[in-house]
Amino acid sequence: MTANLNILYGVSGGIAAYKSAEVVRLLRKRGAQVRVVMTEAAMQFITPLTLQALSGQPVLSQLLDADSEHAMDHIRLARWADVILIAPATADFIAKCRHGLADDLLSTLYLAATCPVYIAPAMNQAMWSKPVVQDSIQTLRAHGVQMIGPEAGEQACGEVGLGRMSEPSALVDQIYAECIDQLPCLQGLSVLISAGPTREPLDPVRYLSNRSSGKMGYALAKAALAAGAKVTLISGPVTLSAPVEIERISVETAAEMYDAVLARASSHSIYIGAAAVADYSPVTMASCKIKKNEQTLTLVLQKTRDILADVAALPSRPFTVGFAAETHALEDYASAKLIEKNLDMIAANWVGQAQGGFDSELNALHVLWREGSNGICQKQLPMTNKSLLAQHLIRLIADVFNPQLTANT
Ligand SMILES: Cc1cc2nc3c(=O)[nH]c(=O)nc-3n(C[C@H](O)[C@H](O)[C@H](O)COP(=O)(O)O)c2cc1C
Repeated sequence: MTANLNILYGVSGGIAAYKSAEVVRLLRKRGAQVRVVMTEAAMQFITPLTLQALSGQPVLSQLLDADSEHAMDHIRLARWADVILIAPATADFIAKCRHGLADDLLSTLYLAATCPVYIAPAMNQAMWSKPVVQDSIQTLRAHGVQMIGPEAGEQACGEVGLGRMSEPSALVDQIYAECIDQLPCLQGLSVLISAGPTREPLDPVRYLSNRSSGKMGYALAKAALAAGAKVTLISGPVTLSAPVEIERISVETAAEMYDAVLARASSHSIYIGAAAVADYSPVTMASCKIKKNEQTLTLVLQKTRDILADVAALPSRPFTVGFAAETHALEDYASAKLIEKNLDMIAANWVGQAQGGFDSELNALHVLWREGSNGICQKQLPMTNKSLLAQHLIRLIADVFNPQLTANT
């Protein structure tokens, strides 16, 4: 499959750098625009001239180069890329990425990147098996970097084991298979997303709220936009910003969020309820600040209206996706919620644990959905950064919502 992707291709200084010429050739054959960035060490293994000729673009290597910074500075180059591929990635380069070092152009671009990053490690088998290298690999995976390989086999040094760079054709196939996944799969559709916490006022200065940061909902809004949808975001109070192409409506309380969502749900194709809406709100709001006069204070709360269930009950309802944040019995609660609220899909995640969930950069999801008479289907989306996780969830929503549509992308 071909596609016009902008690929920033980084080459670091390992013996497998000789394979980079073939990687560039295959990427170009698939229709990609390729900009090559080499480390100083990489240029000892293969000449920039070879990669320049194959990519049709000057090869970059200098961070502090007045001329190239004038033409396209490192931040603009990082933004230009749809995908970053680093192959081969040396032990040294992987360690730099893990620790956030940025002392050359390639490591600075890695840090500045906001697009998906693929790394193909290549090194001697003993280097690969060192705990310090494996720790770095695990850390980078948890930060959302996709690892390709390494493979087992005979190595350039004569040893046999795990550490060979994956073959260029395998690298290119994997990147294209996954990037095609991110092509506009919601083109022509409208998506309504609610995100962030709500605030239920107790008095003029206090409120009940929760730890939701809104990051997951905002990442979903951006992923839906990138997938070609027209996106409306109903947002509780957060400190995040949304791209100008997204229509954002700010609300504060659960009641305001209910009204904003219900007023728009029927005119959208898909509704994703990713907000952490208060289940209860104070029956009355004190008109003056509550004084610290008594030893105890009893608050009387009442149930808020159920946004998801009411959207799912609309006569002309959108494809309705809920979120469940649970501290225990995740799967049981999620499947019960899917059925009781008559949702089309539910994405459940653990909260209150060491990693992931509320107010974290990382998350993992257990997604359940109904499929005709086959009952409930499910898929695990493993722990990664919320931006990548949102792209995977949007793709899954598109696949389940309209399989014919995504089969054609
Ligand atoms: C002949 C030779 C082959 C090398 N091959 C590898 C390799 O396959 N993987 C690796 O991690 N390091 C390899 N190294 C070591 C790296 O070149 C060295 O760590 C260098 O500092 C990497 O720089 P860079 O990460 O900035 O590209 C090799 C060194 C030599 C001299």
